[in-house]
Amino acid sequence: MRTTPASPEVLAIDGGSPVRKTLLPYGHQSIEEDDIQAVVDVLRSDWLTTGPKVGEFEEAFAAWVGAKYAVAFSSGTAAVHGAAFAAGLKPGDEAITSPMTFAATANCVLYQGARPVFADVCPDTLNLDPERVAERVTPKTRAVLPVDYAGHPADLDLILQLAERHGLTVVEDACHALGAEYSGRRVGSIAHMTIFSFHPVKHLATGEGGMVTTDRADLVEVLRQFRNHGLSSDARQRQTSGQWHYEMVLLGFNYRLTDIACALGLSQLKKLDANLARRREIATRYTSAFRDVAGVVPPSVRPDVKPAWHLYPIRVDLTKLTADRGHVFRALRAENIGVNVHYIPIHLHAYYRNQFGYKGGEYPVAEEAYDRLVSLPMFHGMSEQDVDDVIQAVTKVMAQFTV
Ligand SMILES: Cc1ncc(COP(=O)(O)O)c(C=O)c1O
Repeated sequence: MRTTPASPEVLAIDGGSPVRKTLLPYGHQSIEEDDIQAVVDVLRSDWLTTGPKVGEFEEAFAAWVGAKYAVAFSSGTAAVHGAAFAAGLKPGDEAITSPMTFAATANCVLYQGARPVFADVCPDTLNLDPERVAERVTPKTRAVLPVDYAGHPADLDLILQLAERHGLTVVEDACHALGAEYSGRRVGSIAHMTIFSFHPVKHLATGEGGMVTTDRADLVEVLRQFRNHGLSSDARQRQTSGQWHYEMVLLGFNYRLTDIACALGLSQLKKLDANLARRREIATRYTSAFRDVAGVVPPSVRPDVKPAWHLYPIRVDLTKLTADRGHVFRALRAENIGVNVHYIPIHLHAYYRNQFGYKGGEYPVAEEAYDRLVSLPMFHGMSEQDVDDVIQAVTKVMAQFTV
């Protein structure tokens, strides 16, 4: 039931009644009985890890995104690391990526001893600006990692053309973009490698988990070895073949995804279409409601794209408000709307400032956006009432702060 504010114009932060009684988080998984049963079945089976569910999940996932191959990893971060390794990144190399992403994207370049080089983003989508990427290419550049911010695919055609000209590998970080479409194709086989995450706030939840998809047979074996200590075969292959012998052929990690997680992933995959449809419905409702709310700039969508809406990040128009983003954020939290901010641009984090000497001002589009971003709740389990509450709270807060 909606809480009817006693005095709707008084913000909760100023002592009024909140729009909701309980906090609505910005993201949340949906786990149903069949998901639980799938996990229980694996717990009763012979294989908790490196068993049959891994290959089943990889095959089903590859088919769903339209890629030839998929390799499961223990997290999205491990998957980006695997792709950075398979792209051949090593000390002395550079890889160009977006500052407007989660730190893991750039960190994985560092794990390989290579240098992440940031290029500024497009003002509309906050995805890598291909013109800025072109300016950053040097003889040391080996890879580009575009990020599909909030679930809106990056400018993949232009980035792939640039990569072709310079012989670069394109690793698309699609951790936000499972199910997103670019020129009528689902992301997953457009870039040389595409990365997904199965963290609970994402479209498909396995607790922790990730995937690399690719059409390139030459990369698949390297990715499989890298996630399994660099070994030439895994435990199940040895059991099946009756051979004990294996070799360590490269320096890998234990980045395996368990059969428990893969069974959950397989079960969640069946609901992905419905999940995406619901996220798109919510985005449509938000966008039409916020079109007329002064001070709110809804996220923009390019014409050849269908976003997957992992996030719904609005930007506040500071020229129309008497408050800054921090104040709007706190006011919405007080209304029990679990807003968030994605992202602090990576180069502004203490580690990157200290290591690379960033001072702020290097990537003005990302930095200006950061000062204005607020992510509203967006997950497929949201009820119509939840969506109404968010719209009501944003409208209420903005009405107070509009000039
Ligand atoms: C853009 C992006 N890349 C990589 C990751 C890392 O994924 P994981 O949390 O599964 O390690 C995330 C996680 O939020 C992300 O948002």
